[in-house]
Amino acid sequence: MDALLTTKEHDEARQGEAFAPFQSSLDTTTKKFYIESYGCAMNFADSEVVASILGEQGFGAVTEPALADLILINTCSIREKAEATVRKRLTEFKKFKRSRPGVVVGVLGCMAERLKGTFLEEEKLVDIVVGPDAYRSLPGLIEEAYGGQKGVNVLLSRDETYADIAPIRLNSNGVTAFVSIMRGCNNMCSFCVVPFTRGRERSRNAASIVSECEALFNDGYKEVTLLGQNVDSYYQAPQQQGVDEAISFAKLLEMVALISPDLRVRFSTSHPKDITDDVLFTMKKYDNICNYIHLPVQSGSSRILQLMNRTYSREWYLAKVDRIREILPDCGLSTDMITGFCTETEEDHQASLSLFDYCKYDLAYLYYYSERPGTLAARRFEDDVPLETKKRRLQELVDLYRGHSLVSMQKEVGKTFKVLAEGFSKKSDEQLQGRTDQNKVVIFDKGQHKKGDYVNIKITHCTAGTLFGEVIN
Ligand code: SAM
Ligand code: SF4
Ligand code: F3S
Repeated sequence: MDALLTTKEHDEARQGEAFAPFQSSLDTTTKKFYIESYGCAMNFADSEVVASILGEQGFGAVTEPALADLILINTCSIREKAEATVRKRLTEFKKFKRSRPGVVVGVLGCMAERLKGTFLEEEKLVDIVVGPDAYRSLPGLIEEAYGGQKGVNVLLSRDETYADIAPIRLNSNGVTAFVSIMRGCNNMCSFCVVPFTRGRERSRNAASIVSECEALFNDGYKEVTLLGQNVDSYYQAPQQQGVDEAISFAKLLEMVALISPDLRVRFSTSHPKDITDDVLFTMKKYDNICNYIHLPVQSGSSRILQLMNRTYSREWYLAKVDRIREILPDCGLSTDMITGFCTETEEDHQASLSLFDYCKYDLAYLYYYSERPGTLAARRFEDDVPLETKKRRLQELVDLYRGHSLVSMQKEVGKTFKVLAEGFSKKSDEQLQGRTDQNKVVIFDKGQHKKGDYVNIKITHCTAGTLFGEVIN
């Protein structure tokens, strides 16, 4: 078991298992592609860029690999388990290649970047391997692959942001969308493979971000989530913009919020060292910027945080949480935490538990440490905490967190929230499901409402994961 709690990766992987076709192309194209995505939201957003690049070449998306001429898998390397899942899936793809030898199979994303050409030796059925900054080269590589030539492009770039490519929305609910605002990461958290698979941090041109969000709103979307590994370090210098003023993340948030009060704005992920008061005050100023911050902590022990190279201490993190609650008293707060990092003692673990007690997160993504080849931690430290200890500590955190999340949900009972309906609930087409501003899931009887509507809901009862309520007119 990789994580005892629902993880973003697993959630999103499930959502991404079979992408919906982009309708306009289906009947008119000769070639079909199937894409399956794993990993973080940024990888899912990248698959939409890939769909756009392929759409330009006349490829139409299908939802079944059995129907495709081109099968792509957009991969994640964050933990060993994520890579094992991809390898298993590739084995399953063998049958399509056996029954239709002309089918081309491509590996994209972070695992492609990490393993490069060795993928072609290890996985014989793979024809092309393309890293996150090389998707523009896909058409050429695909053409060569149809001619029988295998190909690799894993060049990382200092300036590629795909700013000019309008993503084709895949598996979309038509209400919420991800918008990438930057790529790469300049932090060197010692446990993390991302700086190696995604390269240097670079910010996308602000005007292209705003126009993508405007286009989404004009197409009926009601919520955008601005994505980056460290959104608070978004920065465009004046000379990059051709305007006088530099654009910080706070400024960008404001620009997107001003598109329309009916467009909700979310963002992820914030790094505790970089989130500024300016961002918090911008959130306070605009009702449509959702009151929710994902603020990964990784450990509650300053000693471990230093080994992780997170560049803040426990005290710094807690002061940041206090500041958020001072400026935004109703703000939803979530985190990521890793148990069993190198040298972690019971005392360090107790510090993580007590930090959870203090922060009382609404949502937490919890993992045990998985050593990744090539990272600073793999090179410098021994992965010395036994697996059963890592898992036991993870379970203790999960138990504590579940108690907190139940209390956090219970305190909403009796209150009324503006909920954006995103679609039917999983159990019934008579019920709609949406989220509050603070990112809590709400289910209610649909009545006259439909997805995309903002609906005022009075909360009547809850579980640890879901609020239930009724429409207030
Ligand atoms: N950039 C974000 C940040 O700094 O928090 C998120 C990075 S990563 C895509 C998502 C989460 O995966 C991290 O916050 C961390 O908790 C977890 N993670 C990263 N590397 C890991 C590893 N080697 N073992 C276990 N969990 C890991
Ligand atoms: Fe990884 Fe740290 Fe960058 Fe997040 S901030 S992607 S954890 S290196
Ligand atoms: Fe995974 Fe790459 Fe995202 S390693 S979490 S897909 S940046």
